[in-house]
Amino acid sequence: MRLDKFILKSTTLTKAECLSVIQNKQILVNGEAVNDAAFQVHENNIILLAGERLYARPFRYLLLNKAPQTICSNQDGVYPSIFNLIDINNSETLHIAGRLDVDTTGLLLITDNGRWTFNITSPKNDCIKIYRVGLLKAFDTSTIDLFEKGMKLQGEDKLTKPAFIKVVNEKEVLLTLSEGKFHQVKRMFFTAKNKVVSLHREQIGQVKLDVEEGQWRYLTDDEINSFH
Ligand code: URA
Repeated sequence: MRLDKFILKSTTLTKAECLSVIQNKQILVNGEAVNDAAFQVHENNIILLAGERLYARPFRYLLLNKAPQTICSNQDGVYPSIFNLIDINNSETLHIAGRLDVDTTGLLLITDNGRWTFNITSPKNDCIKIYRVGLLKAFDTSTIDLFEKGMKLQGEDKLTKPAFIKVVNEKEVLLTLSEGKFHQVKRMFFTAKNKVVSLHREQIGQVKLDVEEGQWRYLTDDEINSFH
């Protein structure tokens, strides 16, 4: 990992403070002063700041129930960022494993482990996501096949991967996907001649949403390991 990333992960310094201690040659890597932020280090290197050895903090894993009219960006935009709700140190080092649209609610998984995120978001890994979908018109059960066999979305060359529908009532279904193309759920129902009016993610892999809107919690070890 890059030296600046390691310092960020192992101290409570901000990004700017990390760069400053590196540039001021306050960091020793295996006894040598290093002032290059991109220098590659490993966890078994002896890395000292002001004579004290630094150890990378363990990765962090959270789930959050996203409210509507909030955004999955690390900074506020027209709407407030969901990260305002996560009052822990260095929350700017976290990212979301599978973002939701501004009007979509429900389960977000949040971490600082990029490899873990890849396991969740790569379509090759078949990680399921379950959405509760509210529709403008009654769901046409004759389109179930289209979802199961795969459909061609506007602007895409490949068919969508098999997706599964469970009808809840006339205008509400549960949709299980194992990929996450841009606006996928809304585009799939558009292709099936309907329109999504509400969208809520209930589950990712084996992790089910169990906190109130706007609340978050750390994942259990079993939940974390289920994506390794
Ligand atoms: N599909 C969408 O269309 N929007 C989301 O927020 C998530 C999946």
